[in-house]
Formats: sequence, structure tokens, C-alpha cells
Amino acid sequence: MTTKTLALVTGGVGGIGSAICAELVQRGYQVLAGYHPSEEARAREKQKEWQAAGLDIGIVVGDVSSFAACVEMAKTIKEKFGTVQVLVNCAGITRDKTLKKMDEADWAAVLHTNLDSVFNVTKQFIDGMTEAGFGRIVNISSVNGKKGQFGQANYSAAKAGMHGFTMAVAQETARKGVTVNCVSPGYTNTAMMKAIPADVLKGIVDQVPMQRLAEPEEIAYVVGFLADRRAGYITGANISANGGLFISF
Ligand code: CAA
Repeated sequence: MTTKTLALVTGGVGGIGSAICAELVQRGYQVLAGYHPSEEARAREKQKEWQAAGLDIGIVVGDVSSFAACVEMAKTIKEKFGTVQVLVNCAGITRDKTLKKMDEADWAAVLHTNLDSVFNVTKQFIDGMTEAGFGRIVNISSVNGKKGQFGQANYSAAKAGMHGFTMAVAQETARKGVTVNCVSPGYTNTAMMKAIPADVLKGIVDQVPMQRLAEPEEIAYVVGFLADRRAGYITGANISANGGLFISF
């Protein structure tokens, strides 16, 4: 058990998630990086890297697409570490295909992992936050949830859905000291980019006014800001960090 504020980052050993873990631990939180059972080796390796860099970050297994697995994960966290007061829902996958080629499994995998997960995980921790009178929930959405993207009917729908969830739950928890917000990154320099054909990615970067990808640390900084106690009057927001790729109200 700890006296520090406990933060859980799902997808915490991925590109953006691991940068968020590093940002939060440097800001003084006790941080747990959630990972999928298939990422066991990667999680152990990442934890060693963090240790070598002087960052004490715990790892916790859980398939966020499964409600039952999230119940188990939450039980373990509560027993070993205490009450999660900062939750970053960052776990996400892509299965990019035009709708013509997309099958039911491509749709289901993305909706379960990217959207159902936000319900599955948040549900475990929301009561602890409202009872404590303090909580920060940050959902990692995407520029493509705001503007839609060719080849991403599943991903764009899930990411837009995350913000609907965010706006609703923000209203439900506003009086209890719990803020709920989205961060919508643009194209970010992570392994996820490797799934995009090089010529397609070049075409996308050419359209970004900043003419480059985001670095994961640039996204993590926004999450750190929203997680701060001093950000207590921001709720239901969807903050873009997209290099100007989609500029809107
Ligand atoms: N708008 C309009 N038409 C387009 C288009 C676009 N953006 N992109 C391609 N097309 C056209 C092509 O020119 C082609 O036309 P013709 O048939 O007349 O030649 C047709 O659509 C088929 O295109 P593709 O050859 O690209 O189709 P494909 O099946 O080979 O590939 C795809 C489809 C897999 C979706 C591929 O286009 C792709 O990977 N696109 C990138 C998707 C993307 O941006 N993913 C983001 C991943 S990162 C992420 O998700 C993180 C985040 O939050 C930002």
C-alpha cells in the first residue's frame, strides 16, 4: 500500500501508454501499467527498462475486452496496491480495412478492445473515486474519432464512442470531484504506424500542418496535465494533440 495517488494505465506497455506511465511516475504518482496476457514478455522487459531508468512502475495483467478479466484485475490491484484514483484508458488496437473488406471479427475485435474496454475498466474503479471524492479519468481517443478515417470504420466508431461515454460519465461524476476527459492524439510515432503502408503514411504526414508525427511524450504530457489535481475544473473535454491535422471547435 502507498500514500501516493495510485494511477492505472491500460495499454501501459504500448507506445503511448508507456510514455504516459513514465510521465505520471515522474509527476509523483504510483503507477501501474496494465497489459494484455499476450504481452507478458514485453511487460517484463519494459519494467526492466523502466527500472534501469530509475522509474518504479508496476505491471498488472488483464484483458480489457473482457468484463470478467477486469473484475479480477481490479481485485488484484485493490489487494496489492489500494484504490485507483487516476485511470487512463489507453488500450487499443487497429484492424484497418475498407468496409467492403472488413468482416465481423475485425469489427468486433476493435469495438471490444477499444470501446467496451472503457466500460469494463472504468466500472471497476468509478465507485472508489466518487467515494473518495477525487478521481481523474482520461480516455485516449483519436483524431480519427473526430474526423473519421478511410479504412477505419471500426476504429473511428469506437474512438467517437469513447467520447460519448466521456461526456455522459463526466456529468454523472462532476459533483464528486471526479473529472472525465478524452485526449485525441493524431498520428504518433509508435509501433501502430508500422501497420500503415509506407506510401499511405507519407500521404497522411504530408497532410499534417506540422509535417511530422507526434512523439508519445507529447501525448503523455497532455494526460499528465489532465490528471493533475489542479486541472479540477476541466471535465467532459476532448483535447486534441494532432499537429493541426483536424482543427475544430
Ligand atoms: N480517401 C479516398 N480514397 C482513398 C483514400 C482516402 N484516404 N485512401 C485510398 N483511397 C483509394 C485508393 O486510391 C484506391 O482507389 P482505386 O481503387 O481507384 O485505386 C482505393 O481507395 C483503395 O485504396 P487502397 O489501395 O488503400 O485499399 P487497400 O485495401 O489496399 O488498403 C487500407 C486500405 C488498409 C485502409 C489502407 O488504405 C490504409 O492502411 N490506410 C491507412 C488507415 C489509417 O490511417 N490508419 C490509422 C492507423 S494509426 C491509428 O489509428 C492511430 C490514431 O489514432 C491516429
